[in-house]
Amino acid sequence: MNIEAGSEKKQVYFKNLKFYIHTFGCQMNENDSERIGGILAQEGAQKSNSLENSNLIIVNTCAVRQKSEEKLFSFLGRLTRIKKRKNLIIGIVGCVAQLHRAQLLEKNSGVDFVLGPDNYSDLNQVILKHFGEKFMATRWSREWKEIPSEHILRKSDISAFVTIMEGCNNFCSYCIVPFTRGREKFRPFSNIIKEVRDLADNGYKEIQFLGQNVNSYGDASSGKDFSALLREVNSIPGIEWIRFITSHPTNFTQDIALAMKEGEKICPQLHLPLQSGSSSVLRRMNRGYTRDEYLEKIKLLRDLMPGISLSTDIIVGFPGETEKEFQDTLKILEEVRYTNIFSFRYSPRPLTAASRMRDDVPFEVKKRRLIEVQELQKSIQLEKNESMVGRVIKVLCLGKSKKNPQVFSGRNEGFQVVNFKSPKDLTGEFAPVLITSCGPHSLQGEKANNY
Ligand code: SAH
Ligand code: SF4
Ligand code: F3S
Repeated sequence: MNIEAGSEKKQVYFKNLKFYIHTFGCQMNENDSERIGGILAQEGAQKSNSLENSNLIIVNTCAVRQKSEEKLFSFLGRLTRIKKRKNLIIGIVGCVAQLHRAQLLEKNSGVDFVLGPDNYSDLNQVILKHFGEKFMATRWSREWKEIPSEHILRKSDISAFVTIMEGCNNFCSYCIVPFTRGREKFRPFSNIIKEVRDLADNGYKEIQFLGQNVNSYGDASSGKDFSALLREVNSIPGIEWIRFITSHPTNFTQDIALAMKEGEKICPQLHLPLQSGSSSVLRRMNRGYTRDEYLEKIKLLRDLMPGISLSTDIIVGFPGETEKEFQDTLKILEEVRYTNIFSFRYSPRPLTAASRMRDDVPFEVKKRRLIEVQELQKSIQLEKNESMVGRVIKVLCLGKSKKNPQVFSGRNEGFQVVNFKSPKDLTGEFAPVLITSCGPHSLQGEKANNY
């Protein structure tokens, strides 16, 4: 089917589209889904909140671990069962789409189109020209591809994701992302600033910059780097909290740390993925830093911002990881005392350098190491959270708690979840909250009258 762009037929066609987007993966995928929703809505398509009530289903996929990929395949099973009963178009986008392209389009897969991360601006063309046909676009772009930000269908009207770069040049030996997102591409500085100003005008209170490695940001025409970007957004009235993810430790410079300290709106919070506490494992992972170099960056951050809230990612069971190397990871967790960590069992990914190493740590050992990491971290978090009981902290209220409508949920500057009681709905506002109790993963409290 080929419908002429701009025709009346096209309008009717999009009006009849009810789309549902299911998102797996990281914050960048979340933001991409918001953008994809905007591209469709701009032409008149309607967003639907259920699979059953839609005629276009888009699955935004993640390939980072074996498990992430498996999630897509079981979800796809469910979709093809629905498709047997009703007329439905299924599109797969994101990192698995880029990786498995043709395989996803195989005759009986039920999938109609596949779009890689650099091809979302083609979406409406795909729908107009190829609806009902099998279609694939997975070209990588060397240049930044701007999707106009006016139509993004954002999930939150308080806190917004703003993507500033995409792709990765680091090639950590375990990681598939450079093969799904391609090389680093930077969004023009002026486009970022415009999006942030628009968000401020629309009442947003918090922004979170996104990129696989935000620290390497650089705008070719103005020569501005990441710290210049932080300094500039810090001066935009209306936005009160600024965060960013992810930072590669190697590219995290003193200048960025200074921009964080000096920018009063930049939250004293940083996700700095460590992966392993052992220098020999870090070398095999091709991370580009040693244990001591990483710890130096932590020291720099804490010297500048004593209360900074730190989080990290940990992989256990990387090829060849010995018990001693694993103990080095436990030791560094005790030393740094992160506010939060994300920990994973290593799984080999296609195309990566580590997939050519022998995956020799037995599954049971990986499992035990993961439990040890998580148990240790849980006790650290509980201790740290207990020390906050009795304090009044600033919380950005993000909405009612799902479980109890008298309780509100938000985050503090350190990006911790805070659930609190309030007689008044404070959604979208900053509030002083007295912390009265805690668990390892969240703080509980009640609205206070002042700080
Ligand atoms: N760009 C970010 C995040 C990449 S993916 C960064 O550089 O940190 C998020 C996390 O998934 C990684 O930090 C890593 O801890 C984990 N991860 C990536 N590949 C993995 C693999 N093959 N097995 C297990 N965990 C993996
Ligand atoms: Fe993957 Fe490493 Fe790039 Fe992060 S920095 S996306 S872990 S290759
Ligand atoms: Fe997953 Fe791709 Fe993000 S692999 S973690 S969705 S960049």
